[in-house]
Amino acid sequence: MRILLLGKGGQVGDALIGALAPLGRVVSTGREALDLARPDSIRATVRQARPDIIVNAAASAAVDRAEVERDAAFAVNAIAPGVLGEEARKLGALLVHYSTDYVYDGAKLGAYVEGDAPGPVNLYGESKLAGDHAIAASGCRHFIFRTSWVYSARGSNFLLTILRAARERPELKVVNDQRGAPTSAAAIAEATARALAKPDAAPGIYHMSAAGETTWHGFAAAILEAAGLPTPLRAIRSEEYVTAARRPRNSLLDNAKLRATFGVSLPDWRAGLAQVMREFA
Ligand SMILES: NC(=O)c1ccc[n+]([C@@H]2O[C@H](COP(=O)([O-])OP(=O)(O)OC[C@H]3O[C@@H](n4cnc5c(N)ncnc54)[C@H](OP(=O)(O)O)[C@@H]3O)[C@@H](O)[C@H]2O)c1
Repeated sequence: MRILLLGKGGQVGDALIGALAPLGRVVSTGREALDLARPDSIRATVRQARPDIIVNAAASAAVDRAEVERDAAFAVNAIAPGVLGEEARKLGALLVHYSTDYVYDGAKLGAYVEGDAPGPVNLYGESKLAGDHAIAASGCRHFIFRTSWVYSARGSNFLLTILRAARERPELKVVNDQRGAPTSAAAIAEATARALAKPDAAPGIYHMSAAGETTWHGFAAAILEAAGLPTPLRAIRSEEYVTAARRPRNSLLDNAKLRATFGVSLPDWRAGLAQVMREFA
């Protein structure tokens, strides 16, 4: 089986390199070999690789930057997935793609299921939702895994920001009115590899996030405790932390469809955090 992996330098992409290896021959690409902002670059690389499976872990994932660089976010997150879908359909390949909790508006009280109406509250969410629609419209076989609050021991993420800030500042202030499930890139990669044992499962969207729930404040507290950092941590409301992009209040995703279809469940977010913290040790 030939697998073409896009976004090898990202959090999820990096974790996928090892996780996908037992499934076949993995060709991993970064921006230099395949620029998602250039459809000709996508088509040329896919046609040359002739993969059985395309795994797209690349995205423009900077949520606040998307508010000021709308066209760039849409080129990578909305248009490129549609081009990948067209190429996958021509080859008869399966396209695996990642989407986000930010396609939902966060107003629901319970966890979101795949059938809930999306309603992004920021441009990043809009661009990712347009990408999901473009893949469905392409007619290719696809799995879209919607995940949330991704972190790992590398890259740019909340965990690394908190560890750095806790060493530099006398006190940390973190919002406690946004709920979600921090999901490690390693857990996503492992769940993806296990799901690919059933490549003929029904195409469509599947939620794929860690079990359990917390707030950004709760996640920060767990990080500080795991790292043994005594920096005081204060809970604040979203209104007190102004960012370019609005965030949904509720990012919780119900994973029942993933479990029922693939027999795959992700560990609790605390277990994922413990595993990543061990990587630092
Ligand atoms: N991060 C989160 O909290 C989060 C939450 C929910 C869903 N997701 C989704 O999960 C997936 C993986 O996210 P991640 O956190 O692993 O993202 P990431 O760490 O930011 O990695 C994204 C990768 O995409 C690459 N990329 C960006 N623009 C590109 C372009 N024009 N051409 C080719 N490659 C390009 C980046 O390359 P460079 O390093 O060269 O820029 C980087 O390697 C994405 O679909 C994201 O939308 C993420």
